[in-house]
Amino acid sequence: MKPKIAVCGRIPAPALVALREFADVWAWETDEVPSVEAVHEGVRGVDAILSLLTTKVDDALLDAAGPSLKVVSNVAVGFNNIDVPACARRGVVVTNTPGVLTDATADIAMALVLMVTRRLGEGERVIRSQEPWQWGMFYMLGSSIQHQQLGIIGMGDIGQAMARRAKAFGMTIAYSNRNRVSTEIEAELGATYLSMDELLATSDVVSVNCPYSSATHHLIDAVQLAKMKKSAYLVNTARGPIVHEAALVDALQSGVIAGAGLDVFEEEPKVHPGLLACENAVLIPHLGSATVETRTAMAMLAAKNTIAVLSGGAPLTPIPVPK
Ligand code: DGY
Repeated sequence: MKPKIAVCGRIPAPALVALREFADVWAWETDEVPSVEAVHEGVRGVDAILSLLTTKVDDALLDAAGPSLKVVSNVAVGFNNIDVPACARRGVVVTNTPGVLTDATADIAMALVLMVTRRLGEGERVIRSQEPWQWGMFYMLGSSIQHQQLGIIGMGDIGQAMARRAKAFGMTIAYSNRNRVSTEIEAELGATYLSMDELLATSDVVSVNCPYSSATHHLIDAVQLAKMKKSAYLVNTARGPIVHEAALVDALQSGVIAGAGLDVFEEEPKVHPGLLACENAVLIPHLGSATVETRTAMAMLAAKNTIAVLSGGAPLTPIPVPK
């Protein structure tokens, strides 16, 4: 008998084809996020679940799937949508998609640095509103990034890819991380390891690239924002709740920092109304990994993880079982 797989959101066709060759597949095939009830119905009795960021993998979903479930393959590198301890208690393997979205996400982070420092969102709004405008010596001046310090919070793959891009734009690199990266990587990137306090106080742009967990919830709050330079910018492409969004709105409105570029929000898809009114905020809708190539690679990796586990092999990119 073929194994059963539930795919809880629309994924690129090559991955669905690979899964269908191997198993009986229930797949949610539209772009709307399925209701919890629809997902619970779809996962009943399956051996594997492909979850998207919008799929809440909690005890209720695991109960709905039942004891046949062996693996949850998240089509994302971040896995804060998954209750990993609950999966571990049931012996369910959890996997994610590291590596394949590193460049796409670092591209977006760098794009946000350029957009916010050069006021590109504001500029675009002027053109589209058909307001009169005129080139002028002092018209819509931004800040140069050359010789400015980029402070990276979280020097994993994406943080390092961001550092490479920023270095090519002439920025100097500082970083803060749980552990120092190797001296080879520090030398390649010309990166200086700083404490969070030092990084916040000295950086011209601060980029959040760390994973979200209870340890990083509201890591950047009013107190941390107040440590930044008034001329500094904050960029977040990691997860919304790492930044206290209401505190950020206050900081942007009152000139505590100069601006922010955000790809992620605290309660997606909701965006704090205060942010919408901030000209000095660039806001984009969680596009970090949104290229055809990247999303295809993510879905293929999730499919390979699923097939590996259901074939009795080791997953390619497992999330470590919590202790
Ligand atoms: C991820 O994979 O965690 C990204 O946020 C998806 O865009």
